[in-house]
Amino acid sequence: MALLSCCLATTLATAGPLDAGDSTCPVVPRPLTYQTTGGEPFCLTAKTIIAADEALLPQAEWLSQALAAPTGWDLAVRTGSKGQICLRIDTVAVPKPEGYRLTVHKKGVRVEAHDAAGAFYALQTLLQSLPAAVHGERRCAPGLWQIPALEAEDAPEHPWRGFMLDAARYYYDKSFIMKCIDMMALYKLNKFQFHFIDDCGWRLESKKYPRLTEVGAWAGSNEKRIGGFYTQDDIREIVAYAAVRGVEVIPEIEFPAHILSAVVAYPWLSCTGMQHEVPEQHFISRDLLCPGNPQAMQFLHDILDETMELFPSKYINIGGDEAVYTRWEQCPKCRALMDREGFTQASQLQGWITNQVALWMQAKGRTVMGWEEIVMRGRVATPVVAVMWHEPKDTTEVVSEGHQAVIASCYYNYFDFPESGTPGEPQHAGWCPPISLEKAYATPLPDYAPTSAILGVQACMWSDQFIHGKALQEIAYLDENRSEQYVEYFLYPRLMAVAEVGWTASHLRSYDDFLRRLSAQYARLDAKSCNYRVPEPAVVRLEENGGQFTYTLSPTVEGAELRYTTDGSYPTIHSPRYTGPVTVARKSDFMAIQVVTPTHYSLPLLTPPDYSAYAAYGQMTAQWQPLTVQPMLSPWRFECTGKVSGNGHYTLTFIPQRGVNSLQLETLTVRKRDEIIATASPERQADGTTAYTFSVETFEAGTPFYIEVQACGQGGNDTSGLVFLRKD
Ligand code: ACM
Ligand code: ZN
Repeated sequence: MALLSCCLATTLATAGPLDAGDSTCPVVPRPLTYQTTGGEPFCLTAKTIIAADEALLPQAEWLSQALAAPTGWDLAVRTGSKGQICLRIDTVAVPKPEGYRLTVHKKGVRVEAHDAAGAFYALQTLLQSLPAAVHGERRCAPGLWQIPALEAEDAPEHPWRGFMLDAARYYYDKSFIMKCIDMMALYKLNKFQFHFIDDCGWRLESKKYPRLTEVGAWAGSNEKRIGGFYTQDDIREIVAYAAVRGVEVIPEIEFPAHILSAVVAYPWLSCTGMQHEVPEQHFISRDLLCPGNPQAMQFLHDILDETMELFPSKYINIGGDEAVYTRWEQCPKCRALMDREGFTQASQLQGWITNQVALWMQAKGRTVMGWEEIVMRGRVATPVVAVMWHEPKDTTEVVSEGHQAVIASCYYNYFDFPESGTPGEPQHAGWCPPISLEKAYATPLPDYAPTSAILGVQACMWSDQFIHGKALQEIAYLDENRSEQYVEYFLYPRLMAVAEVGWTASHLRSYDDFLRRLSAQYARLDAKSCNYRVPEPAVVRLEENGGQFTYTLSPTVEGAELRYTTDGSYPTIHSPRYTGPVTVARKSDFMAIQVVTPTHYSLPLLTPPDYSAYAAYGQMTAQWQPLTVQPMLSPWRFECTGKVSGNGHYTLTFIPQRGVNSLQLETLTVRKRDEIIATASPERQADGTTAYTFSVETFEAGTPFYIEVQACGQGGNDTSGLVFLRKD
């Protein structure tokens, strides 16, 4: 721990915008100001009374309940101002929405809030100022509940701090949905996009269209049946639970694509009327809702009406992503509609539906939102909110057409991508590169002003890996809870990074200071029985001296210990304990893990090979070694998902490194799943490498890509080398 404090001392000295008082701040996301005043602390006792304005009674009750298990007390809640903990609305003292002022001194706790959300957030800051056990179920000794004297003033920079959970590809129990909302609330996230409709399942009960859940919520048959749905009572319970916590639950009714589950229940919704089955594997259907069919449009109207009755949210999300229009092009009803409207392209029909729905919603006082396609495929006249899931910079175009945007980028905020490429990460999405915690923290989000069109940021957790993931779906029958733990592994700590990006203005954000505060948050996650990815140890210093390398590490989880190896082997919890700098001959000889408990520890910190000398050849994609080289021409297949990143021209280069018997290379095929989309022949290059060039014209995000090449060793199999892929 001495090392940690030494490292933090340097960090804080260079962090710039944070003044000295703030270095005592334990809170994530970082408040505007937070100062411990050095006075005597306030001690909670069994006699503490929580007094609140009438409007804040739900939040006061929430606090009493939150404290009940860890303290064993049932703190009284009263209307008014006579209590040691006092919650008041004061929109003059606290002018910003969701803002609060929090004062703690020996005699009591005072909260002034702009609104109920602000009061709730003050209580989160209060709890994060107490020991981590305050979040747990276990009753602790009464002496623990001392809150340091402090003054904090706070309000969010952005009005949109979101989280999307894909409960369509994998059905999460209602209790897990509520746990997610609870965790969002702890980190002051306020918009929950409930993605509960997709090709693989319809999970919202409808009274008017009961087959949506009788049929559309289930895949497989008999004892292998998987799925589930939320009843209308479940939804009311979730919405009310979220409301106390300042979280708006936004339903996502996906159309025109990603709606196969409804088409299975009511085949007349699609252009062909064909009967399908709810897929058991991840699948993006080409069967869209048929806008040329008035009955299908009436369905949409009815479902949206029923949805609005259940969800009081300002926003209604209509999905809208990834539609491929072949069915519309071939459909007589859709063609007739196109003729009537004077459309030349089927894609214009998507804009046509979006416009209609946006107008219905506007008439009901709601605002339509959806993925970026809703404004990028056809012009939409009514202002809507686009969730930008690719390039944050594309918001410029969206905003110029009068719409608003939320950043939820697959390059920064999609947490079904792993944090690292280290072997040992669980099964994950692979069509984009890993998203490290630091990358998530670097989400490009301009600061907010009341006239800003970019409302904020949102994390997304897709669940298709549970559907087509090899290992996890198989064990889901045996241990349902494992999948929830798997989601939490991917979400934490990155969700806290998104929370801070959305809450804290950019000039107050510092990644190093975030890491300092984060190191104490893991104990809170433990107290809440929330799984997380244990981060690797931090390298404080790496010094080279006389051809040797000296590693100085520090823990990144408060209280954790570090274990290391120097022989290139994978460290375990029984490896030597790190107590001070370690010197090795080669960087790659050293590996270390961080151990929180004997069953919860990190992947190894390791030094990846340095491929910078090959940068001109693109990205490292595969490598061959004597054991993988066959004596006769045989297919060698490797994955290039994520490296094939769009339509265009590519060069694949084989670079021999070792061996006297070279690799014979013949025809190459490029595959999208199993479909061959390109072939190429080898060309020997002057530099001794072998290159193939090919084009990709049917790129689809979220789809795995492979390269297969006919290869063998010529006269022996001692060759090894690297394969790089470059997009030209
Ligand atoms: C998306 O990832 N298809 C929005
Ligand atoms: Zn049609």
